[in-house]
Order: sequence, then C-alpha cells, then structure tokens
Amino acid sequence: MSFFEAIDITKHFGGLAAVNDLGFEVRQGEIFGLIGPNGSGKTTVFNLINGYYPLTGGNILFEGRQINGLPTWKICKLGIGRTFQVVKPLRRMTVLENVTASAFNHTGDLKVAKAKAEEVLDFCRLGHKKDFLASGLTIGDRKRLEIARSLATSPKLLLLDETMAGLTPQEQGEGVELIRKVRDSGVTIIIVEHIMRVIMNLCDRIMCISYGMKLAEGLPEEVANNQDVVEAYLGKE
Ligand SMILES: Nc1ncnc2c1ncn2[C@@H]1O[C@H](COP(=O)(O)OP(=O)(O)O)[C@@H](O)[C@H]1O
Ligand SMILES: [Mg+2]
Repeated sequence: MSFFEAIDITKHFGGLAAVNDLGFEVRQGEIFGLIGPNGSGKTTVFNLINGYYPLTGGNILFEGRQINGLPTWKICKLGIGRTFQVVKPLRRMTVLENVTASAFNHTGDLKVAKAKAEEVLDFCRLGHKKDFLASGLTIGDRKRLEIARSLATSPKLLLLDETMAGLTPQEQGEGVELIRKVRDSGVTIIIVEHIMRVIMNLCDRIMCISYGMKLAEGLPEEVANNQDVVEAYLGKE
C-alpha cells in the first residue's frame, strides 16, 4: 500500500484543464517537491488533494483509502494538513488564539487545543510571540504562524504552498530548517516552491508540471537539468 497516491487526476475549470491526467506517489517520510511555471496547476493540485475542489476525473488514495469525494474537514481529520499561498490568519486574534482555533477544530476540547497550540508554537519558535496580534507580525512570522496552524491539526501529510515567497534569504534559511524539523518529527511533506535553492536543499524527489501535466519526476538534480523543465521555465531560446 502506498502512503499517498494520485491516480490520473484531472480538473477542468470550464474549458480549461488546470490539472490533466496527473499521476504521482509520495512515500511516507519524504519531502516531495512540486514545481512548475506560474499557472501550471500546483495550487489546484493541493485544492484537489484536500477536497476543496471536486475532481473532474481520477482518484486520490491516502493510506490505502480513497479520499476524493470526502469533505475537507474529514480529509483534515484523516491527517492531511495544508498552508495557503496567500496567508490568511485571523488578524484580530493573537498568535496563540489563531493556533488554538486550528487545534480546536481538530480536538474539540479547548484545554487540549490550547496545550497543543503552545507546543506547536514552541516547535515553530514562535512561543515568545504568542500574545502578539496576528496582524502585527512580520511576513516571515506570518508564514511561520501559517505552518504552526497547519501543524496544530496533527497532520501525517502536510501540503506547503509557497511558504518562502517574500522572505529574506535569512528567513528562507530558517524556513528550510523548520520544514526539515517538521519532517524529522514524522510528517511527510509535499512542497510547492519557486525558490529553486530551497527546493534543491529540501526535497528527496521533485515533480515538475506544466499546463497541468507531468514534465519530469525524479531526484532534484535530474529534474533541474531536464531539458523540458528548463524550457518550461526559460522558454526554448
Ligand atoms: N477557481 C478557479 N476557476 C477558474 N480557473 C482557475 C481556478 N483556480 C485556478 N484556475 C486556473 O487554473 C490554472 C492553474 O492555476 P493554479 O493551480 O493556481 O496554478 P499555480 O499554483 O501553479 O500557479 C490557471 O490557469 C488558473 O487561472
Ligand atoms: Mg499557486
């Protein structure tokens, strides 16, 4: 049984095939990178995995079980967490309240949720800012908060969507360190990221998509040097 498997998944928006007959597997414990030019369908793949959009075709299996067709909350309960490309914390709540709210959705017990939130914030090195309003955080801390909120749902598989965009090189380094720590704690990760240095540093394997279809898949160096991948990013010239 594979840990995670997308089988020939397709998503049409009207006449546009945003994801087109895409198949891939993710092994337990790995960091799997999903790359591709803007508009190639990466965020849509995440929205299909977590049930935000229904599939037009195909199947998604998690721990051997078909999850397509289930509501998002159920998929989250089964152990798939995600962050959003555009971070949207509850701005008028504190950092701790934000993470507690996520944990509460998962546990249904406020005391347990708060303890989980404290633990996750310490893990993400945000504990010292737990009483800050989310609206007052730097972009780097907001991205960390976004990761903390997803971890509060105790995911087995975490989908990270461009968590490094807009960060300084130093913040990127800290982000890489945090993501590695998350993986080492037993969470499998699929990461969408534009910053190739981050991808090459973190990922065990990479898949590149273009127009919703697979261009290449394999070890980071193999994919980064693949001629089709280079052309998709830079054009044929
Ligand atoms: N809800 C939607 N309705 C219509 N088109 C969409 C929707 N979401 C995404 N798309 C289109 O699907 C394609 C893939 O988008 P997206 O998955 O966001 O790409 P990426 O994350 O790789 O930049 C784009 O052409 C985008 O305009
Ligand atoms: Mg996107």
